[in-house]
Amino acid sequence: MKKSSIPSKLTDIEASAQLADLARQIAHHDLLYHQKDAPEISDAAYDELRAKYRAVLAEFPHLAPKDNPEARVGAAPASGFAKVAHAVPMLSLSNAFSDEDVTEFVGRIRRFLSLADDAVLEFMCEPKIDGLSCSLRYEMGELVVAATRGDGATGENITANIRTVKDVPQKLRAPFPEILEIRGEIYMNREDFLALNEQRAKDDEPLFANPRNAAAGSVRQLDSSITATRPLKFFAYALGEVKGDLPDTQSGLRKQIAHWGFKLNEPSRLCKNEQEVIAYYHDIEEQRHKLPFDIDGVVYKLNRFDWQERLGFVSRSPRWAIAHKFAAEQAETKVNNIIVQVGRTGALTPVAELEPVTVGGVVVSRATLHNEDEIARKDIRVCDVVRIQRAGDVIPQVVAVDLKQRPKNSKPFAMPTHCPQCHSLAIREEGEVVRRCTGGLICPAQAVERLRHFTSRLAFNIEGLGEQRVQELWADKLIHSPADIFDLKKHKADLEQREGWGEKSVEKLLAAIEARRNIPFDRFIYALGIRQVGEATAKLLARHYIDLKNWREAMIAAHKEDSPARRDLDDIDQIGPSMVDDIIGFFEEPHNLRVLDDLAKVLTVVPYTKPAGGHAPLAGQTVVFTGTLEKMSRAEAKARAENMGANVAGSVSAKTDFVVVGADAGSKAAKAQALGVKILSENEWIEMCEA
Ligand code: IVH
Repeated sequence: MKKSSIPSKLTDIEASAQLADLARQIAHHDLLYHQKDAPEISDAAYDELRAKYRAVLAEFPHLAPKDNPEARVGAAPASGFAKVAHAVPMLSLSNAFSDEDVTEFVGRIRRFLSLADDAVLEFMCEPKIDGLSCSLRYEMGELVVAATRGDGATGENITANIRTVKDVPQKLRAPFPEILEIRGEIYMNREDFLALNEQRAKDDEPLFANPRNAAAGSVRQLDSSITATRPLKFFAYALGEVKGDLPDTQSGLRKQIAHWGFKLNEPSRLCKNEQEVIAYYHDIEEQRHKLPFDIDGVVYKLNRFDWQERLGFVSRSPRWAIAHKFAAEQAETKVNNIIVQVGRTGALTPVAELEPVTVGGVVVSRATLHNEDEIARKDIRVCDVVRIQRAGDVIPQVVAVDLKQRPKNSKPFAMPTHCPQCHSLAIREEGEVVRRCTGGLICPAQAVERLRHFTSRLAFNIEGLGEQRVQELWADKLIHSPADIFDLKKHKADLEQREGWGEKSVEKLLAAIEARRNIPFDRFIYALGIRQVGEATAKLLARHYIDLKNWREAMIAAHKEDSPARRDLDDIDQIGPSMVDDIIGFFEEPHNLRVLDDLAKVLTVVPYTKPAGGHAPLAGQTVVFTGTLEKMSRAEAKARAENMGANVAGSVSAKTDFVVVGADAGSKAAKAQALGVKILSENEWIEMCEA
């Protein structure tokens, strides 16, 4: 049976761990894409992550976090630049992929505005440039602030860099509104991009994946003299905040924009009806290779501003505009090899090394194969001739294999069972499409991410040891394993010499590290970064196993499938089978035990203690709830039991002290009876709570 990536039958805590894990991955890829301009995965793989996130959230809407990644446009501002709050949010556009989608878009506008079928609807049509959106604020005609979109509400202040872009006027040509925000796209011509990459190859610098990444990477330079050397251009196409008079149509605005001194994106056309709009689309699609820049579609904007205003916005996009995307560009080439890359979360991604081929003006020599199911589904093999496509994706995808050209001796591809980087076991869990390296901290691909998690706020909370410093110290071999952090004081002199560190900050960092030599057991567990073990699960484990020694022994005993130790772990309420596998999997790797033991030598892991001042009449007792409780939710009953010091288990065993039986209780009540375990009714339970 094909494994589905859609989760089902998760417990709340598993779902919340999955959401946290997916949100972390999404945030990681958002950061790579929007702030580092160096995406690791294709747009399709990213969309899959978001789809999975949405699927879990649809089943568990009550677990939606405040910073739900689904509500974000782009990424939050990168550090290193000051923040700019946009006076008018910078939104996105919804997409049309077919002529029918366009018909529907036009129909929606007619219905919304209650227009007669024969009322003339004019659309201003422009190419959709693949670059980086930017907002330019002019006060009394002078450029005062330039900002990226960021998350739509707050962007990064990139004024110094934008001042180096020739297409951006420092002063507007009069007359102009008192306040004027111009929005447009920073981009790079294809030819300039290729020349820049050629130079970077000569200088042994990493190449940009495409013109969009090159433009974004150039704008996000902290040193604007570097930006000044990059061939950046700017097209203006929309407005933000405006105080002053404006034309009353989009086409009028374009004339005005040109008058103020901006470049416009051409070829544009004012179309009088839907047929003209669609004809424009096909014309541009034909010409797209002749244009000096990459476009991924065209944009249609309703021409009348009064109508735009009435239509307004829905969620993240205006109702009066749409982006009509071009179909993916395809080419045929040969798969020279299939290699397996390891991402920072340990995910193994197969990648096809291709005979270089030009697709839509860009030379492609690699394609992502996503995962082993995808390879099996398309039956992609080394030496196959394949059709590949770039669908606005940074990394192209393989669409299909040409079986007629397959060599006779070819063999199906087999995914490695061990990590190609650190040779640890790579496992694929039930319901997952991704195979992951279990190497954790000893895997170079994962080490930095794990160390960063280790020092993060909810874990060891070591201020002054963020991602950049961890990366630097890891690369210089000063910290390879978490225990090395507690040895950093040996390298005090070295640290003080480093650029951007200094005596004071090193002193502060070493003090922060010393302050963490005593660490509560639950934080310690969380810091290990075991998959699916978030903050809440770490607390459950700490409460159950009390101290590190006891937990370590129990987890080793739990390696055996049918052991009492495994059942005991499985019995902890809210810990489901997939979590049990992850926790035990962690202890099955000798290097993880080494990490634990090394840490135990340099730290005092403080055993779990019940919150002070508590009334703990049920201390040490194991309770099971079954059936429907009428006077309190299961979550409240559980919290109350835990507050009274009890362990809440998911199933009944001889170790259970009592079972609280609600309405329609099933086999657990029967099992309790058979084992002679004490049974309480809901009322008796409430009396116990109120005693
Ligand atoms: S109009 C309210 N016009 O595409 C949104 N956007 O996918 C106004 N883009 O966020 C945007 N070319 O960054 C507009 N001719 C064009 C565009 C364009 C590129 C970008 C822009 C937008 C994104 C949506």
